Amino acid sequence: MSTWPDTRILDLLGIEVPIIQAPMAVGTTTAMVIAANKAGALGSMPAAALSIEQLRDALTTIRQASTRPINVNFFCHQPPEADDERDRKWKALLEPYYRELGADFDAPTPVSNRAPFNDAACQVVEEFRPEVVSFHFGLPEKALLDRVKATGAKVLSSATTVEEAIWLEQHGCDAIIAMGIEAGGHRGLFLSDDLNTQIGLMALLPQIVDAVSVPVIAAGGIGDARGIVAAFALGASAVQIGTAYLFTPEANVTPSHHHALRHAQASQTALTNLFTGRPARGIVNRVMRELGAINPAAPAFPKSGGALMPLKAKDEAGFSNLWSGQALRLGKDIGTYDLTRELVEHTLAKLK
Ligand SMILES: Cc1cc2nc3c(=O)[nH]c(=O)nc-3n(C[C@H](O)[C@H](O)[C@H](O)COP(=O)(O)O)c2cc1C
Repeated sequence: MSTWPDTRILDLLGIEVPIIQAPMAVGTTTAMVIAANKAGALGSMPAAALSIEQLRDALTTIRQASTRPINVNFFCHQPPEADDERDRKWKALLEPYYRELGADFDAPTPVSNRAPFNDAACQVVEEFRPEVVSFHFGLPEKALLDRVKATGAKVLSSATTVEEAIWLEQHGCDAIIAMGIEAGGHRGLFLSDDLNTQIGLMALLPQIVDAVSVPVIAAGGIGDARGIVAAFALGASAVQIGTAYLFTPEANVTPSHHHALRHAQASQTALTNLFTGRPARGIVNRVMRELGAINPAAPAFPKSGGALMPLKAKDEAGFSNLWSGQALRLGKDIGTYDLTRELVEHTLAKLK
């Protein structure tokens, strides 16, 4: 594969083409991972929205269908302290919506959960030995990370600033995902919660490339060959693509999400903390418009989504998270395998 300008990621991860189908909690299915792998890319299975049993089932399905390297992705946040007063104030803020939509305000608030990487998840890694393990929100504690590394897995994590990239390299990452502000889903930020530190990929990527010695993977706003060529020009060794894969039939998206992805403009996405308590990029909908996309009343990650669940059940488009990156207009209704092969062919043609 000498046609690629940089083969470090291909050699490191044992893949054929320098494309990572991004892990997208809820949105990624085993079929997507299998199809991406078949096309020579790195398929990534996100674990954050799965129980341990569901994760085992997903990895069994993938391993039965493909012998190629896979990535398993985990969130590594600290579960928040209980804060009943904050939870109560947040629900009170939503009360007018409960009344309007006919949701039961007095029923117990559903629990919104995202699984942090822990001993049980680490045991699944030890059992299935994925070739790559990626993390979001930093890295797990050293004892757990050492166990992951002892399986032989290469470790990746997202950096949203140069400081985070340096920290991740110092703490043992084999490659770093430079996550530009354009990206869909949760920001991976973990050293600061100041959103002013979050910058675009064109500025972030070369500065991270200059600051670390491990290979860098570009993520955020890449939806076609033009973006991949640009990422290589800025020093990336590979790209991680999320939103473009949400348009494939293998993606698990609700009807509202499907509709919004196909009809929204790039200017209609925003960073919001309403749905989980952490900033994430999604298509602006009613609750974001009316409460402000970033609202300090939202309880800490991952709790704020619980009180929104009964509203989402009544009005999915208005009250659910419609994660998307800024390059959504580049999305195409084609399958994961064809999308990946097209990205490869068009990129190689441009690099000639
Ligand atoms: C629907 C959705 C869910 C996501 N979930 C995760 C996740 O579970 N873990 C993770 O590391 N990143 C997650 N991300 C971020 C992606 O892995 C990736 O970095 C991002 O999508 C790249 O930007 P793009 O969407 O502009 O292609 C998610 C992104 C989206 C759009």
